[in-house]
Amino acid sequence: MTTHIDPALASLLEQARVAAQHSYSPYSGFRVGAALLLTTGQVVTGTNVENVSYGLTMCAERSALVRAVSEFGPGVRIGAVAVANLNGAASPPCGACRQMLAEFILLEAPVIFPAADEIRVKQFSDLFPLAFEMKLK
Ligand code: THU
Repeated sequence: MTTHIDPALASLLEQARVAAQHSYSPYSGFRVGAALLLTTGQVVTGTNVENVSYGLTMCAERSALVRAVSEFGPGVRIGAVAVANLNGAASPPCGACRQMLAEFILLEAPVIFPAADEIRVKQFSDLFPLAFEMKLK
């Protein structure tokens, strides 16, 4: 149970909620927002953008990630992540988003998100312990 939330994370969560207001989710009605705190102190947000094909839907976290790299370049590093939704539901980052975040996030970065009955904060390495990596011999 998260009793005390760090003010910086609480602010990031609020920015994720604001981002969710731009959600394009006519198919699921699930409005998600994500906010990434870069190690430079800048915050980049994103929202989910659905598609009639369903499978092409882009999650909020990946929208934010692609935006961060596009705006600040391939050297961006993520120091914290917040995910929020406007449906009052749980929304931990999905597996695809965890794998994408793994490329740019610090292992110790906190990830804050709504779980079934509470707001949870988990270190990224606990949320995604065995990221795929490719080391060719
Ligand atoms: N969604 C996200 O934005 N982030 C996730 O981590 C999982 C799911 C979105 C995709 C889709 O628009 C809606 O939530 C329902 O799956």
